[in-house]
Amino acid sequence: MASKALFKYLPGHQAGASASVSVLVNGAVVRMSPAASLAAGLLAAGITAVRVSPVGQGARAPYCMMGVCFECLVDINGRPNQQACLITPQDGMEVTTMQAAPCALPQQEAKHV
Ligand code: FES
Repeated sequence: MASKALFKYLPGHQAGASASVSVLVNGAVVRMSPAASLAAGLLAAGITAVRVSPVGQGARAPYCMMGVCFECLVDINGRPNQQACLITPQDGMEVTTMQAAPCALPQQEAKHV
């Protein structure tokens, strides 16, 4: 039974486009299509654990792919907690998976909690 795909390419891109960009992920070059989100590119490259849960320290992977679950948080060009599923990969982008549990409080305040 044929079905129509629910995933759509980003505006300005076409299915089967061969263009790719180089993204530095944890220091390694990863080629991915700019026609899909950064989260999709990471998953396609086999990078599934993009952050660590602050509850239980378990590895987390992109889940909803539409900006709702916040499971896809990564550091992009030095800015932490960026939703990879809402970002288009760009040449030279530096992505770091978040291996430590995030902390919303500055370090001095966090010591007193
Ligand atoms: S995968 Fe759910 S917010 Fe990004």
